[in-house]
This record gives sequence, structure tokens and C-alpha cells, in this order.
Amino acid sequence: MCGIVGYVGKREVAPLLVEGLRRLEYRGYDSAGIAVLNENGLQSCKKMGRIDALAAELKKTKLKGHAGISHTRWATHGEPSDLNAHPHMDQSGRIAVVHNGVIENFQKLKEKLEKEGHVFTSQTDTEVLAHWIGVKYQKAMKSTNNGRLPIVSAVEEALRDVVGTYGIAVICADFPDVVVGARRGSPLVIGVGKGENFLASDVSAMIAQTRDVIYLKDYELAVLKPGGFDVYSMTSQQPTVQVSRVEWSADAAEKGDFPHFMLKEIFEQPQTIQNAVRGRINHEECTAVLGGLNLSATQLRAVDRIILMACGTSWHAALVGEYLFEELAGIPTEVEYASEFRYRNAPIEKNTIVFAITQSGETADTLAALRESKRKGHTTLAICNVVGSTIAREADGGVYLHAGPEIGVASTKAFISQITALVLLALYMGRLRSLSAALGKKIIEELELIPSKIEKILSQSGEINKIAFKYKASKDFLFLGRQSNFPIALEGALKLKEISYVHAEGYPAAEMKHGPIALIDKDTPTVIVAPRGNIYDKLMSNLEEVKARKGPVIAVATEGDEAIAKKADDVIYVPSTLEQLQPLLTIIPLQLFAYHFAVALGCDVDKPRNLAKSVTVE
Ligand code: AGP
Repeated sequence: MCGIVGYVGKREVAPLLVEGLRRLEYRGYDSAGIAVLNENGLQSCKKMGRIDALAAELKKTKLKGHAGISHTRWATHGEPSDLNAHPHMDQSGRIAVVHNGVIENFQKLKEKLEKEGHVFTSQTDTEVLAHWIGVKYQKAMKSTNNGRLPIVSAVEEALRDVVGTYGIAVICADFPDVVVGARRGSPLVIGVGKGENFLASDVSAMIAQTRDVIYLKDYELAVLKPGGFDVYSMTSQQPTVQVSRVEWSADAAEKGDFPHFMLKEIFEQPQTIQNAVRGRINHEECTAVLGGLNLSATQLRAVDRIILMACGTSWHAALVGEYLFEELAGIPTEVEYASEFRYRNAPIEKNTIVFAITQSGETADTLAALRESKRKGHTTLAICNVVGSTIAREADGGVYLHAGPEIGVASTKAFISQITALVLLALYMGRLRSLSAALGKKIIEELELIPSKIEKILSQSGEINKIAFKYKASKDFLFLGRQSNFPIALEGALKLKEISYVHAEGYPAAEMKHGPIALIDKDTPTVIVAPRGNIYDKLMSNLEEVKARKGPVIAVATEGDEAIAKKADDVIYVPSTLEQLQPLLTIIPLQLFAYHFAVALGCDVDKPRNLAKSVTVE
């Protein structure tokens, strides 16, 4: 996700835009830029790097004006660079656009424009949108536009051709006191001032200037002028313009309704899965569409082994991937700790693909293991969240997560996103081999239901908080699971220990009797991930083994399973789904349990002691 800020009024615009961007930096921070309107027309300044880099540049260029737009970027198309930074101009250089979202049909639009002689300077979908608006503007200048400004009609007509999501702000040199905004799928808010008005991705960007805001709805356009604003709808609906009063502090506004980024990101996960899946499903052929692998179908069919290497939470996602590739694609798969793999001299045949799974794309051990694999001539792919990060750039290809910045040190939405990417990859490679269209269709149907199923689990956050509080005095936990819920047990244990500093271990449930069962007593709760499945009865036996030693049991179970409630001390229910997709659901209660437990202990959930968001050293 990216951050957008717009302003029109009497004050100097550049300082207001930069300050607003600083409040949105958590939404994206790989590059930033502004465009302003003044007696010289439209001027812009944009810079790769954090907002400080832009501010330093502005000290030199001193852009003046009383209307403008600005953007801090989270790259989706085109890696972070000065050229890919927003704002982007149309062909004439008289219209500037900033955009948060993904234009799925931008290639098609770009090809049409290039045929008409348009020249692009960036790799972004946003620049294509700017040129498309410019073309519509030329037409709008020759008609009445129902009394609307030509630039407003041009924005509306251009957006009608767009497939995808957008929150945009637009300015035009011909209208020096107008800022146009529009949204579909990405947030946009008007800030109502006295003799001035603001536009931003969220209220935190303008809360220092005004607390009176209007939350735009999808398909609405806003036209801001110093003395007022208009809101239009692109549908037949009349827009409902309601001014709300924001009571939050500026810092709280960045987290929205949430006290911590980690909780915000846990609750973002339904949207996270939609972002990871968007534009990547071929319903007709019951397969996935993954454009960035840079490998042909023939090359992918020739793959006879997969290595998944990662660290931490990403390593747990790799373990889930192992089950997925073996079950759906029939490809022998193994998982490696990157920190170990980088030093082993593992014999790897030529038809092996080495995947690096990483949220940040900068983890030192994962990067070193990737470079070692490339040095030996192996094909490397990255499953990564940060576009243009080192690992993403050095791998031969890969899949971006599109999860947006993950601020909380404890990884949650990135983990879900990694598993979703692995499902898509296993589906895609399976459908190139022996996976049936029928099963492929069922996987897709179930995957598209997962976001609403996660919503149902999230609605139990209050109940899970009570369970966490009940066990807040516990110092040791066991987490148990089997098959693809074994990695979920590991991830649940990691979440708990890294934000609450209590001891927690994850085990394959069957391993209990090989030693860990000695740890069980009345003060050692066991979390058992036991959804219905082909080895449910075995998990029930493990649950009994724990109860026989007076160990408290918290179970994650399938909705409707009343039998388990008779045995476990506490149960958190998840909706049923395909066994291959269960990890996307069973991890949610464990994320919430860890979060509430750590809050109950008064821990710093977003910045836990001793940890860093990205471990860029050995
Ligand atoms: C997970 O909650 C931790 N923050 C940590 O284990 C993390 O997953 C690990 O450092 C790998 O980071 P990466 O995904 O950015 O490579």
C-alpha cells in the first residue's frame, strides 16, 4: 500500500505535503515525491529512499505553490527508483497523478498508448494511468462535460477503463486551485479546513491540520478547491457526504482503530489474501497465473526437486509449502534453514529449483544461501514482500506478496501471504502435471472463501483475549500439530515467545511420547492444533495423553466439533476448509492468542526486546 496526500488552500503546500507524508511513511517508504501548481505551471520533485531524502531535495529546489499532491511508495510495479517514484505525468507534462493500488490492465492500456506514440519513462502502472487521463483530457477540453471541469471528466472517463484498485489524487496545470481525488478499493479521505482542503490515504496525514474528515466510498470522485469541495459518484448512486470528527491522536491514527500495528496487520489478513490472489487465478483452466517466474511451462515440468529455504516465520511457511508441493504437484520438496544451507555443500541436481522465502528480501542468511545457490548454477526464485529488495532483484524470478508494509516485528500478514503464494505456486505447477482440473477448481473455490472465513475467526478476538488472560501466569507452553498444522504449531510457539518472552515449543504431536511429554504438568498448557482431518483421531489421542498428566489443553478445532470441547479446557473454533488450506485458518487463533497474551503481560508488542524487523546481519 502507498500513502497519498493532497492540499489546496492559502498556505505554502510543500511543507504540508511532506509533513503529511511523514505521517504515512508506515504505509510505504521506498521512494517519495510531490507535484505542485504555481505561476510556472506544474512542478515536481521525487526521490528514491525515505521521505528525508525527498525533504533534502526540496531544500534545494524550493517548490512553491498553494496546491499540490504527494506520495510515499510501496512498490508493486517497477522497483524503487527516482523514475518509478510518484507523481507520474501525462504525455503533455501538464497533469500529475499519485496512486495507491494496482491497475491490473495497465499493460493493455500501455500497448494502446504506445501505438499512439506515447513514451513512458517508468515501469509503473500509475504512469500509464496518467497518460490515459491525459488522452481523456484532450477530448474533455472539446466538450461541455455536463458543467464539470474538463480535468474532472477526464479522470472519471479514464477510470471507467481501469481494471483494478486505486486511490488517486490528480492536478492539472490549467486549474491551479483544484485537486481531484477518486477511489476504488484503496482508501481516500477528505480533510475539511477553513479556506483550505486536504486529501489523504488516511486521517493520520492531516489530523494535525483538521479533524473534520469525509471518508470517500468506492466509485466516488472528490473535487477540492480552497473554498470548498464537491463529491460525485461514478455510479447512479447519489454520494452521501458525511463529515466525521476524528478524536484520535496523530500516532493512534496511523494504527487506525488498533492499539498496535501487529493487531492491525492480523486484522488486515482477509485483505492480504485478496491482494496476494488478485489477478492470479485462471478460472477457466483451474490454475494460477504467475507472471514473474521467468520459467516456461516446459522448464517447470522438468523440475524434479524443490528446495525451500528461509529463516524464522518464513521457514515455517516453507514447511507448509513442502506439504503443498508434494501433495498438489507431486514434486519432492525439502526445507532448509538458510543459515545452515549456506554453509552446507548440498549436492543439487540441475533440475532443482531453490526458493528463497522472505518478507523483507534483505535477511542476511537467506541472501547468502541464495547467492551460494546461484554460484552453483541453480535456478533461484524468491517469494518476497518488498519489491526491488536485494533478494527479489538477485533471484532469477519469483512471486511478490503484495501484502503492503509489515510494521509489527512479529510477522503475521506476510506469513499468510507467503502460504497463499505457495498455494498458487503448487496449484500452478500441479496443473502442469497431474493435478486434475476438478481438484484445481476446488482449491480455487476454497481459496476465494478463505478471507471471509478468516473474518469469522477474527470476530472471536474478544473470546481469545479471555483465554489468553486465563493463562497469563504460565511460563511454559507446548504447541502441537500434525502434517501441515505442525508448522502452524511451530509458528504459534514462535509468535508467543517472541512478543511475550515466555518459553514455548512447537512439536509434531506424535513426538510427544519421544520426550517432550516429560514437560507436561498442571502448569504447562498445551496448545493443540486439531482441526478435522485424516489424522484427527491421532490428535485426540495426543490430547488425552496430555490430559492424563493433568496438562491444561487449549485446542484449535473445526466448527461443530463438540467432542473436543468435552476433553479440552478451552477451544477456539475455525471454519472447515480443504486440508491443504487449513494452515491459512489455524494460524489466526494462535496469532491472536500470542498478541493478547503479550498485551496482558504489558509487553511492547510491536517492538519486542532483542528483535529487529529484518535481520540483515549474520
Ligand atoms: C517472525 O515473526 C520474525 N520477525 C522473524 O522470524 C522473521 O520471520 C525472520 O527474521 C525472517 O525474516 P524475512 O521473512 O524478512 O526473511
